[in-house]
Parts: sequence; structure tokens; C-alpha cells
Amino acid sequence: MTEARKLYIKTYGCQMNVYDSERMAEALGASGYTVTDTPEQADMILLNTCHIREKAAEKVYSELGRLKPLKTANPDLKIGVAGCVAQAEGEEIMRRQPLVDLVVGPQTYHRLPAMEQAVRAGERAVDTDFPEEDKFEHLPKGPRMKRSPAAFLTVQEGCDKFCAFCVVPYTRGAEVSRPVARVLREARDLVDRGVREITLLGQNVNAYHGEGEGGTWGLARLIRELARIEGLERIRFTTSHPNDMEDDLIAAHGDEPKLMPYLHLPVQSGSDRILKAMNRKHTAEQYLCLIDRLRAARPDLLLSGDFIVGFPGETDQDFEATLALVRAVGYGQAFSFKYSARPGTPAAEREGVPEDVASDRLQRLQALLSQQQRDVQRSMIGREVSVLFEKPGRLPGQMVGKSEYLHAVHVTDPRVETGQIARVRITEAAPNSLGGVLVA
Ligand code: 5AD
Ligand code: SF4
Repeated sequence: MTEARKLYIKTYGCQMNVYDSERMAEALGASGYTVTDTPEQADMILLNTCHIREKAAEKVYSELGRLKPLKTANPDLKIGVAGCVAQAEGEEIMRRQPLVDLVVGPQTYHRLPAMEQAVRAGERAVDTDFPEEDKFEHLPKGPRMKRSPAAFLTVQEGCDKFCAFCVVPYTRGAEVSRPVARVLREARDLVDRGVREITLLGQNVNAYHGEGEGGTWGLARLIRELARIEGLERIRFTTSHPNDMEDDLIAAHGDEPKLMPYLHLPVQSGSDRILKAMNRKHTAEQYLCLIDRLRAARPDLLLSGDFIVGFPGETDQDFEATLALVRAVGYGQAFSFKYSARPGTPAAEREGVPEDVASDRLQRLQALLSQQQRDVQRSMIGREVSVLFEKPGRLPGQMVGKSEYLHAVHVTDPRVETGQIARVRITEAAPNSLGGVLVA
């Protein structure tokens, strides 16, 4: 028997790419590939790419350059580019980087086995279609691997919001929701394989509108149905748009115990003028109102967000409004970025803010956000949280997991096992993690 071929996947960007990489590994698993952590041993290398910001795409090209010696050492090595850079730049990648054998967009992973065959036969293959069929349904099933206790499940893809800065509506396409029955089936399968926490993924996940019994289901109804699955203990979802935060979803934060008290709700800017220019279709005040309602439903909700500084036309005053919004909300965690023009988006046509001004604003915003994060981390000391342990930590005997608020928590105690959910009292706080002891 020939030895299994080895597949190395490097994943960039969002959690949906992490999920997609797992599905690609399963698809190629059916063609005889096993996953390796060492690119030097690989027969196929796939870069699952992100196009959201400029540096992300540039990183892919430099990574491809770095793979050249591997290809020289092993001429049979096949190199593929998947994900959103593949979708946006398809043929351009082939031209710019002759060592690439395969380009596959995010909607056609189920065609990978056939593409792999073509590539093995010496062809170069590009597929960046937006087909009708559900790529997850048509993926060949790989071996039923046991899964880590916390898993992702894609329920929705694409986006119809067209924020002026964003490539997602172009690379991932229009909003599509997977039918309820398929989501439930996949969730049950995950739970059978040891999963206790599921994070529902979608570019605009709270716009979920899947076909279910009796008509179209929203995200809240889907979450309530998932919560009935025995053995599934925790549910999260990401990423959301403020305008799709409907009443029943807000209410679920208060009355569905399996829905975790952590919410990533990007606002991007605190200035109404910039929000309008971004085509976000809400004001800062509306966002703050929404936060109030969420906190009324679940007072200990930990909030996370995304921010962009230096969007075309942003003045000092606009930026101050962003700082004011951040102060008003108080985030437990957040991401902030300097605006980068993405070709093909409306904002790319507009004149940007000078680089040094944008850098300075980013620094100031990040200082404030880090301060808030540190304060929240420190405020956890002495509190009891529930932790789902996922894996061994860096130190001997240590196990790490996530609190209900998505804090990384480490505990050193021989009684702790992977997959266990335990009460932990927090005794120490670092900027990105907490330490604690089991509550007997
Ligand atoms: N420039 C900078 N940041 C961006 N994001 C999306 N597009 C851009 C861009 N062109 C950020 C937004 C989004 C997050 C995933 O990435 O904050 O919420
Ligand atoms: Fe992009 Fe999110 Fe806006 Fe959709 S809602 S266009 S994914 S930033």
C-alpha cells in the first residue's frame, strides 16, 4: 500500500477560515491525505487566505515566495491558494506566482478532490465559482475524527450589507443561510464526537434566516433549538451587525442559559458622519441603545468589537467621537485596524487620511482598548467562572480552557481533564489570560 499523502494547511484571517480549513482537510482526507504540521513533509500545501486588509494579501505573496525552496527540493509538491485572496485575485495569483498549482475560492471546496486529481496530472486548476449547491453538503466525508471540545459551525455565509470599506460581499458573495435541519444534524454529529461548545459562524451571523419547520428561522430560534441538544453545553455566535440584533436574540441573552455572555458586536466608528460614509446604516446613539438593551437582558455580558481608524474623511473630531463611544461602552476585548483601501470597494475611490495621522489615532485607540481590557481582566480576580477545558497549557501539568466570557483560563490541578466544565476561582490576571483554582 502506498503511504498516505501529507497535507499542510496554513490558515489566515477569520474563524470561518479555520472552519473551512478543517472541511478542506476532510475533503482531501477522502482522497487519501492526512494532515501534517510540517510543511517540509507535505505533498500538498494549501494557504487558506484572507483579503480583508491589505497586509493580509501581501503576506500570502511573501509566504508563497518562501515556499519556493520546498518546491525545488520536492518537484512533486503541489501548492494551492484558497480563501478570499484566491476568490479576489484568482488568475492574477497564477500569473504572479508560477509555483502555484491550484486556486480555489471559498465556495467550491467540495470540488477540491477533482481539482487535486487534475493537479496531480500536471495541470494548473482555478475554480472561483459561486455555485448553487451547498458546499458543505457536497463535501466528501472524511474519517470521523474526535473533535476538540469547542468547535465552530458555519450557519451563514456572505454579506449583503456592503459597508463601504469591505470586500466580504464581493469575495464571499451574497448572504446565504444553511437550512435548519442541516445545521442541527451537523451540531448533533459534533456533540457525538465530544464537542460541548459550538460557535455558530457567519460573516453576518445574526442575519441568519434558514429554512426550517414552519418557515424561515432567525438566529434566536436556531439557538434555542440547538440548546435542546443534550450534551451541548455552550453556544456562541460571531460576527454580528448591530442592525440585525433582533428582539428575540437580545432576549435569548437573558433567558437561554446555554448562550454564553460574550458578544462580538463591531461598530467600526463612533462618529455618525463616518458611520454614514461607511454605509453602516445606524448611528452611535442607536448602537449605545442596543448595548443598553443587551446589558439589561444580561448585565454581565462581556462586549467585544471592531474599529477602523483613518477612514477617508475622518477628522480629529470624528476620531474623538470613537474614543467617547469606547469609553461609554467599556469593552472587555476588541480589535482595531488602520483603514486600508480594498480595490473594488466604494471607499477605495475616496481620498484617505495621511498615514502618520492614522497611525497616531490607531495607537491612541489601542491604548484605550488595552486599558479597558486590562481593567476587565483584573476585575475578574476573586470571581468564580465556569471553564471548559480544551487542552494542556504551556507549563507542565497546566490545562487551559475558556470561561463563559471567552477569557483564556489556566489551572494547574491533576483533576482537570480535557472536555471538562468546572467552576474556577480566578486568582491571577494577565493582559490576555487568567489563572485560577478549582472550586471544590
Ligand atoms: N480596512 C481596515 N479594516 C477593515 N476591516 C474590514 N475591512 C477593512 C478595511 N478595508 C475590519 C473591520 C471588520 C474586521 C473583520 O476587519 O473592522 O469588522
Ligand atoms: Fe463587511 Fe461586516 Fe460590513 Fe458585511 S457587515 S460588509 S462583512 S464589515
